[in-house]
Amino acid sequence: MRILVTGGAGYVGSHVVRALKRAEHSILVVDDLSTGSAAFAERNGVELLEGDVGDAAFLDSVFSDHTIDLVVHCAGLAVVGESVREPDRYFAVNTVGGFVLLEAMRRHAVTRIVFSSTCSVYGVPDSLPVTEETPTRPVTPYGASKLAFEQMMSGYARAYGFRALALRYFNVGGASTEGDLGDLNASGTRLIPNLLGAARRQEPFSVFGHNYPTRDGTGERDYLHVEDLARAHAQAVARLDIVDPLGFGGALNLGMGRGYTVREVLAEVENQLSETLLVREVPRRPGDPPALVADASLAGRILGFRADHDLASIVRSARVFEERERQPGGLLFERERQLQVQVASGETSLRLGEAVVKAGFVDQEGVDKALDIQRDRDGVGEPHQLLGLILLETGAISSAQLIRALRSIGRG
Ligand SMILES: NC(=O)c1ccc[n+]([C@@H]2O[C@H](COP(=O)([O-])OP(=O)(O)OC[C@H]3O[C@@H](n4cnc5c(N)ncnc54)[C@H](O)[C@@H]3O)[C@@H](O)[C@H]2O)c1
Repeated sequence: MRILVTGGAGYVGSHVVRALKRAEHSILVVDDLSTGSAAFAERNGVELLEGDVGDAAFLDSVFSDHTIDLVVHCAGLAVVGESVREPDRYFAVNTVGGFVLLEAMRRHAVTRIVFSSTCSVYGVPDSLPVTEETPTRPVTPYGASKLAFEQMMSGYARAYGFRALALRYFNVGGASTEGDLGDLNASGTRLIPNLLGAARRQEPFSVFGHNYPTRDGTGERDYLHVEDLARAHAQAVARLDIVDPLGFGGALNLGMGRGYTVREVLAEVENQLSETLLVREVPRRPGDPPALVADASLAGRILGFRADHDLASIVRSARVFEERERQPGGLLFERERQLQVQVASGETSLRLGEAVVKAGFVDQEGVDKALDIQRDRDGVGEPHQLLGLILLETGAISSAQLIRALRSIGRG
């Protein structure tokens, strides 16, 4: 089949592209490169069209110039905390952008779509494991923006005969077996990259919440290897004409079907690095459910989905990718270097602190904390050069927010 993968230059999307290529489909990628990397499309050997899924004229040219049988829609904004601070962008890209895509598909008579959804649509579930029957009650704009698109898809399925399947991912982790595809935006937002980052920088790791009703008091999540996830998309594409998603509610959970607590993931990282990390227990983050574990048995029955990788494999592959891409010239090295260049002026740094507070990305206390960390660090350039990077590493802001703040002070 000829498949358009939106967001195919991103973390999940690039793995999906590889899995679909393995299944002998021909692939076209549309991506605005806001968080993705053209290098991933290159490494996958696929054509990349740079543009926004919310741009109807651009999509018209894509669908007119190429024959497309099916769309896998991975493009989107995916940082939960950021969505709380900037709901407008999340609804604009994930919901309105999705609507523009569906309409373009309808105009060009492309009616098959597989969508990257999320367990955030469930919010804080009353009971575990989470099945597709669990009520959808998102507690963040991110979850709401994705659920709204799911609902739009099912409307199009009923009214216009679309074959539309939402895959609700739980926590995705790991990197490609080849070590050349991985998560470039995880710093500050995702557990495993954060643990690896804390170890690399020899800094304490903050555990949010230690009195949850779980085995060891820390939050429990279902982690799925990105290659298992990607393979599920190839299975979904293969089954879409055979099984009508409307028959089972249009959505499938994808997870390992078992949970790991923060302490258990920490122990795995320590085991692989043969070192003990310094841990700081800090209060829970509002809106974080104590535990989220998937019942992915429906995906097993309908797609033949099964998770082959375990937690050790997720951590190992993430480490290999990070080590490779942090070498000079690597993608993570280059991203960090570019940001360093952008914040490399004392005056800029002060203005940056003001800009991130003014934009509402982080409060003054967050900036002050970053400044404290900065003061503790010796020998890494001028202290003021690091403010942006520290805000990023500590998860106070996302890389997209840093770039926007830098642009607002004329340094982007
Ligand atoms: N990573 C996870 O743990 C996880 C969990 C659940 C769901 N998801 C979903 O999977 C999808 C991919 O997430 P990811 O982790 O790979 O993030 P990512 O940021 O690496 O990938 C998103 C991709 O979409 C592109 N993009 C963003 N806005 C766009 C726009 N308007 N037009 C065109 N391209 C655009 C980005 O450049 C990037 O390449 C998202 O839809 C996300 O909601 C991810």
